[in-house]
Amino acid sequence: MIGNSKKVESNQTGIHKDLEGLVLRYLNSEFRRPIADHTRKAFEEASAFIAKFDAPVVLDSGCGTGLSTLHLAKRFPENPVIGVDKSEVRLSKADSRAENGEPLPKNVFFVRAELLDFWKLVSDAKWNIRFHALYYPNPWPKQSEVRYRFHGSPIFPTLVSLSPELEMRTNWKIYADEFRFALEIAQKHLHLNMEITEEKFVPSDPISAFEKKFQESGHGLYKVSATSQRSSH
Ligand SMILES: C[S@@+](CC[C@H](N)C(=O)[O-])C[C@H]1O[C@@H](n2cnc3c(N)ncnc32)[C@H](O)[C@@H]1O
Repeated sequence: MIGNSKKVESNQTGIHKDLEGLVLRYLNSEFRRPIADHTRKAFEEASAFIAKFDAPVVLDSGCGTGLSTLHLAKRFPENPVIGVDKSEVRLSKADSRAENGEPLPKNVFFVRAELLDFWKLVSDAKWNIRFHALYYPNPWPKQSEVRYRFHGSPIFPTLVSLSPELEMRTNWKIYADEFRFALEIAQKHLHLNMEITEEKFVPSDPISAFEKKFQESGHGLYKVSATSQRSSH
């Protein structure tokens, strides 16, 4: 399926009309839901892994088959890099990268978990995070699906507070616009001091399997970053 990936189709033509209300509502409430046992166990394993390092964590959320996790491991060689995905099939491909002649870098650890729960556990445990990658999250492009997008969900305030540097990439311009808009609302409401940027970009070396596939299919690619003052020191 290289080079023939369909562009995101949606009945939305701009930022969802309900998004501002959703973000404001969730900024004013605490996110609670029961956490699945397997995610709690995955979190404990990841916690044991990061404890071996004396450096803040890099998180690759929704890492899929783990190519971006390996890129991040090279970029942050001293930091533990945790790739998280709910798909066992994709993660087994990530682990098998180790078997293709090259061992997994020592600073990489993959865990199978539901992101909403995992982020909540990370936040409650106050992990020290250096960089958080969220590459090509599922777009949930129908208007009726806005609440499934991470920025339209009750987890969004937790996501914003997790790391001093968050980078989201997508092949859907509206998702990028919404993500930036939701970050700006959080910034204003929570009196944060973040630099929020949105750009269309062309990667010279695709960072992930989906980035490669979307680029080869001629899609526009967008990057939204939120960097708090803390990380610029
Ligand atoms: C479109 S793929 C992108 C994968 C990878 N980041 C890339 O760029 O190649 C989205 C990934 O997010 C994972 N995912 C989506 N929602 C998730 C959730 N709530 N918890 C854990 N993983 C999730 C999916 O299993 C899938 O691997």
